[in-house]
Amino acid sequence: MISITKSILLVSLFAYTTTAILNDQHAYGTLNYEDYDRPGPIDQDILDMIQQMSIPEKIGQMTQINQDLVLGTDGKLNRTAVENYAQNYYVGSYLNQLASDGDNYDSKDYAKIIEEIQEITLGVNSTFKIPIIYGLDHIHGAHYVANKPLLATIFPHGINIAASFNPELAYESASITARDTRAAGVQWTFAPVLDIPVSKQWPRVYENFGEDPHLSSILGAASIRGYQGKYKSDRTKVAACMKHFIAYGAPWSGQDRDSTVVSDRTIQDYFVPGFQAAIDAGVATAMESYIDINGEPVVASNKYLQKLLRDKMGFEGMLVTDWQEIENLHIKHRVAATHKEAVRMAISDTSIDMSMVPQDVIFFDSMMELVKEGRVSIDRIDASVARLLQLKKDVGLLETDGWKGNKELQAMVGNENDIKVSLDAARESLTLLKNHENVLPLNPEIIKRVLVVGPTANNLAHLSGGWTIDWQGPTQDHWHGKIDDGQFYEKGIHIVKGMQSSAPEGVHVEYMTGFDIDGLDENMAQVIEAAKDFDALVVCVGEHVYSELPGNIHDIKLPQGQIDHVAQLANKTEIPLITVLLEGRPRVLETIHDNSDAILLAYLPGPWGGQAIAEVLFGQTNPSGKLPYTYPKYAGDVNLNYWRPVSDVWDPLYEFGHGLSYSTFDYGNITLAGKNNLQQETLPSLSAGSDQTEISVQITNNSPFDGKETVLMFVHQPFRVITPPAKLLKAFKKVFIPAGQTETVRFTLNAELFQYTGIDDTLTIDDGPIKIMIGDQEFDFNVTK
Ligand SMILES: *[C@@H]1O[C@H](CO)[C@@H](O)[C@H](O)[C@H]1NC(C)=O
Ligand SMILES: *[C@@H]1O[C@H](CO)[C@@H](O)[C@H](O)[C@H]1NC(C)=O
Ligand SMILES: *[C@@H]1O[C@H](CO)[C@@H](O)[C@H](O)[C@H]1NC(C)=O
Ligand SMILES: *[C@@H]1O[C@H](CO)[C@@H](O)[C@H](O)[C@H]1NC(C)=O
Repeated sequence: MISITKSILLVSLFAYTTTAILNDQHAYGTLNYEDYDRPGPIDQDILDMIQQMSIPEKIGQMTQINQDLVLGTDGKLNRTAVENYAQNYYVGSYLNQLASDGDNYDSKDYAKIIEEIQEITLGVNSTFKIPIIYGLDHIHGAHYVANKPLLATIFPHGINIAASFNPELAYESASITARDTRAAGVQWTFAPVLDIPVSKQWPRVYENFGEDPHLSSILGAASIRGYQGKYKSDRTKVAACMKHFIAYGAPWSGQDRDSTVVSDRTIQDYFVPGFQAAIDAGVATAMESYIDINGEPVVASNKYLQKLLRDKMGFEGMLVTDWQEIENLHIKHRVAATHKEAVRMAISDTSIDMSMVPQDVIFFDSMMELVKEGRVSIDRIDASVARLLQLKKDVGLLETDGWKGNKELQAMVGNENDIKVSLDAARESLTLLKNHENVLPLNPEIIKRVLVVGPTANNLAHLSGGWTIDWQGPTQDHWHGKIDDGQFYEKGIHIVKGMQSSAPEGVHVEYMTGFDIDGLDENMAQVIEAAKDFDALVVCVGEHVYSELPGNIHDIKLPQGQIDHVAQLANKTEIPLITVLLEGRPRVLETIHDNSDAILLAYLPGPWGGQAIAEVLFGQTNPSGKLPYTYPKYAGDVNLNYWRPVSDVWDPLYEFGHGLSYSTFDYGNITLAGKNNLQQETLPSLSAGSDQTEISVQITNNSPFDGKETVLMFVHQPFRVITPPAKLLKAFKKVFIPAGQTETVRFTLNAELFQYTGIDDTLTIDDGPIKIMIGDQEFDFNVTK
């Protein structure tokens, strides 16, 4: 690392505004809880329909197949195939993008093809004309229908929304996604993703809202309200799908879909809360998870999918499997000797309503045989068909023309406000991990020439990650990391472009590759030679583009070549080195950390991320993201979480909640309903069931820069019957504090914040001393049950 001897003059570069990010009249928080719809009892007309339907028609409703079964070899819709599945199998649902790679559609084309499927389906001889329900994995924007000319807006991934700690961004990005999805004739999205990524090596870390149950709950509920709102009457909304129920984020090996070994208590206290919040927010559908828990495959588990999800948590919506999961009971989990037995187990032991089969009609055939043999009851099928048809009714599919694409919504796709929300989400998520001697923001008085280096600097694919346009992201060949920015149709701003357009007057920005994403040398000798003529290096490193299984790795370290090339740049140049990380999970940095004067973690900020990154580097945006997970220092520490037991060995690189600002925020004056902690003679007491009280802190922005600060309230109980977590987040609030100003932030306290699953597996509060921690402020209490 180069020590900066020149004193850095912080100049007032900020154009950071206080303007409400969002101008949507439905902004999060302005509507009451009652203003949102939720699944509930089945309507009488649906029950009457079921009485008249044939068994094959009912089983067909429970069957979901992949789009490739109805696309011909020419990539076009195969009408004969649709007719076959409609007339002989009464298939009730399809999923996935209706295009082969490289030949995507926009929402208008999409709606047309789905309308054709609907017309064929409605044309067959059946008791009722029941449209199919189409489902898409629109987890960060309507990215499967993002083709031109109607370019649906792609947002930062869930992990960025988490780092923003801003529920409005979760709400707004979901609202826009819902509208763009609906414009394409699709009524259902498989989002939000509410797993708790315990393993940092797991390739699905980025789809989630981070490792904290409370943060995941708040953001999950906000996004469900954005997707769904009043989905029973508002036809700009879609059904959301909370996934993956449950315990998917803690794979034993860190590899996707591996077994999870976890206690019931951990499931209850850490994995359940986000799903419970989603149910409370009215989520219409749920998806089970790929895994087995302690050897028990979730898809056939009465314990998880009936007793926990339905009986205990009260989920009344529709439950779908993940991809091929029933078949997997036979071929992967190996708890069923035949496929038919797999279907019997999943259907008779759980409350699954729909099988994402998805590549054949084996589920339908097996169900028909099982019914004939009396091994699956009609009542069981009717219960599922009721939930399925109620969902179709609720999203408007049973209304006249309710299954058609909406031209008014199509006209709104890709509007400027949507792009602004995506950009704002990127801005608020960027997390400044390190800023030695305030090297950032780059001071234009000193830094006149900036050399940008590295494989993630000059493309949109590494900003956007997997689940973008295609499952494996905008890649031509994901195995070799060849990215294909052509699929963004000139929408978006990569880092080099963002820096060149945002550079202050008199500052010049150039780009040289240096090394590739695998860390292989491309032109390092020239970069080192050229660096002599520059005042600062911005090195953009990161990961391949991936999702799910293809994203599995055996080592959480960044590729050694990237680590070595950063070391070389630090060693052989005399100028400040700023590292920008584009990564879906926290890759271990090794010497990159000490070799960098500053480190900006961008996660996967989406196609406009390059603009946001440039603004932070030049000081036009004050960074306000905070880590939504624990950043490990060592490759062996893949399972570090901040809510670990107190006794755990703990040496992360950065803790959950870490994130620097260009402002200096000082915390003080922690006060309990008017009383200062220092003046307390006896500890105040919180009793279960008693009235709540309020705690406040003051935060002063002791800097010349306006800034946003996320105030986190953690609780801790030093001694209890079950080894306590080191601390646990129970509330947070992101506040804007102008330079020199003080803001008071208030949180509600009650004894229930200390509830956990006790020794007898019921919710417990243990009497004793407790602590509230906000910033560097602490307040001691006693809690009694
Ligand atoms: C369309 O589907 C039918 C029936 O499944 C099949 O026989 C035919 O080959 C398919 N046509 C194309 C162009 O793929
Ligand atoms: C339509 O279905 C009904 C009931 O299964 C059957 O009686 C009738 O023959 C069918 N009509 C045609 C044209 O297939
Ligand atoms: C950095 O420089 C030191 C001292 O010149 C040398 O020992 C070390 O090997 C260099 N490291 C790299 C990665 O070039
Ligand atoms: C605490 O209160 C005092 C007195 O009002 C005030 O001067 C100080 O700035 C406050 N501390 C913080 C961190 O806001």
